[in-house]
Amino acid sequence: MNSEEVSKRILDIVVELEAMPIVFLEAMEIMKDDQFSYSKLSKTISKDIALSARILNLVNSAYFGIPNPVTKINDAISLLGIKTVKGVIMGMAMKPMVMTKRGHELWKHSIRCAVASEILSENLKIASPEEAFVIGLLHDVGRAIFYIYNLSKYKDVEFLINKGTDKLTAEQSVYKVDHAELGYAFAKKYQLPAIICDSIRYHHSLQNSSASSVTGIVYVAEKITQDKFEDSIFDSEVSSVIDFELSNPLEFREMVFKRSDSIIGIL
Ligand SMILES: [Fe+2]
Ligand SMILES: [Fe+2]
Repeated sequence: MNSEEVSKRILDIVVELEAMPIVFLEAMEIMKDDQFSYSKLSKTISKDIALSARILNLVNSAYFGIPNPVTKINDAISLLGIKTVKGVIMGMAMKPMVMTKRGHELWKHSIRCAVASEILSENLKIASPEEAFVIGLLHDVGRAIFYIYNLSKYKDVEFLINKGTDKLTAEQSVYKVDHAELGYAFAKKYQLPAIICDSIRYHHSLQNSSASSVTGIVYVAEKITQDKFEDSIFDSEVSSVIDFELSNPLEFREMVFKRSDSIIGIL
């Protein structure tokens, strides 16, 4: 079986496990059509109380700084923008991953990357900030799927990593697919925009990305927000695809962590 077939099999099983409530799939189905109606989407989202509450909490959070409280899902969708709503829905679909300690760590990592990517995209005028946010949020979705599919197997991956194997090779040898390819299969299955699919697939191999500048943003975002802060954010790989410098990476990191904390509890 090649990695595409393995991804398909894993994704089928994860859906069968009902890790993703039907409302997510319905909402994604509606959003496949560019001309979809907001009211149809609102109706679908409203069926899931937890998802509705999260979307309303997010739009009313300090993060967005909207002065008057928003109480209707329809208004929340138009304020957040469809790309962010899509990201929240996808992020929520990954909710089972926060049930474990590892999952929660990954969750925090994803939010931080999303926030850092959004700010970098805004400042550098590369891609749209909403798109960058979704890419940051979902870049490691493949890892979340591994956790949902079979968490104990991931411990075998960690064992190999601790012995010096690089992450993607370790995943390949345990699951027969790595998290970048699996995440790509997931994004493609739910017909996310091509740029998002591409960035998820190549966030560990920038040179293969056809949207290398936005993928480069997520690459930098990931380095800045990783647990152990290292000063060397710009290695040769990223320098070859994007041309910018951060004058104070540590200060940037602190700002990202602060902004992320305001939404980590909400999503
Ligand atoms: Fe990551
Ligand atoms: Fe990754």
